[in-house]
Amino acid sequence: MQNIIWSTGHHLKFGNITGSDNCFLYDEYGNRLVDLESGVWCTNVGHNNRRINQVITNQIGRITHTGFCYGHPAIDETALKVLEICGLKGGKCEFLCSGSEAVEFGMRIARTMSERPLALTFADSYFGAYGDAATKSKEGWFIYDRLNCGCASSPEGCTGECEEFQKIPFSETGIFLFEPGSSMGLVRFPSGKLIRNISERIKRYGGMILANEVTTGMGRTGKWFGYQHYPIQPDIVAMGKGIGNGYPVSVTAISENVSQKLALKRFIYAQSHQNDPLGAVVAREVIRIIEDENLLEACLQKGNYLKEKLEGLKNQYPVIKEIRGRGLMLAIEFHKDANLVYEMLLDEGYIVCKRPNAEVLRLDPALTIEMETLEWFADTLKEIFTKNDCYS
Ligand SMILES: Cc1ncc(COP(=O)(O)O)c(C=O)c1O
Repeated sequence: MQNIIWSTGHHLKFGNITGSDNCFLYDEYGNRLVDLESGVWCTNVGHNNRRINQVITNQIGRITHTGFCYGHPAIDETALKVLEICGLKGGKCEFLCSGSEAVEFGMRIARTMSERPLALTFADSYFGAYGDAATKSKEGWFIYDRLNCGCASSPEGCTGECEEFQKIPFSETGIFLFEPGSSMGLVRFPSGKLIRNISERIKRYGGMILANEVTTGMGRTGKWFGYQHYPIQPDIVAMGKGIGNGYPVSVTAISENVSQKLALKRFIYAQSHQNDPLGAVVAREVIRIIEDENLLEACLQKGNYLKEKLEGLKNQYPVIKEIRGRGLMLAIEFHKDANLVYEMLLDEGYIVCKRPNAEVLRLDPALTIEMETLEWFADTLKEIFTKNDCYS
């Protein structure tokens, strides 16, 4: 990897990875690694999924890419299914290439429609590598810090009843960009009351809710989408990561109402890979696999199992401060030394995600992970704590 541009903070964890199977990666020497990070939280139905491989193989023998002004039956069919699972029947979809792009595309639509100058979001939300939401310019955004307001320390977290909440300029706000709990990688879920309070006010002023489901979508939290844990229905949903299971396809879905109003506006967006048939075929198969294999239910069961195991460790080892999670999106917060645990897990062949500048390890295994693999992980973690006196 000497001919590659490395971003600051990125570095090689292992030698070359040359093979994979579900939650296992194999390096060039045949070593097996357990991937509890799902390749930056993407491979929700497992690495090297045979069904995904098959549809890709079938499709590349026919047509992979066309351009803006072409159709393919799989594009419309997948769009219909996507709209059904996100509660936006009658709406429309666009197939794009990354999570960042799906959010940016959603924001461009929302800005085109909005009659008010501001978009609201939380200080602990991430939206992508570029674009309006990544930049969050002072002129266009109101950023609410729900983790440092008057009611942040209550058991539920901010409920929208504090002084700081009253300062949100709802009358100037036309968009709420909601990221339901990935929280800069730290897995912190906003309270139901807060989200209800915000969405009621946004709707009162005729605004829109855009849900960023890039990480929380495609079954990751035990429901199709993270916003489905809240009493709201977004107008726009941005999906990425899991919808391509590692293939770079993403989707933005909009409601029927938004789509009808958008049709009356001048809306321009063009890049080379909008609505490619290959991406649509992959997304369609991911959805079918999640349905056929009951992976939403499996995700909840496996997530609860892992959470229970981790809670057990927390009761035994005071170095663990908190376990957070919904479905198979979990975080272990330590009082100290998360990095040491991360390194020791790597030595044992377990890949988890270490968040920079936080004592947090994050776990997002594939929904198809075997219970046995979760058990091995919990046992390995316990062994690490037992062998190292500093953790007892
Ligand atoms: C919550 C969230 N939104 C958006 C993105 C951007 O997605 P991508 O990296 O595919 O562009 C990420 C990526 O980590 C994310 O975690």
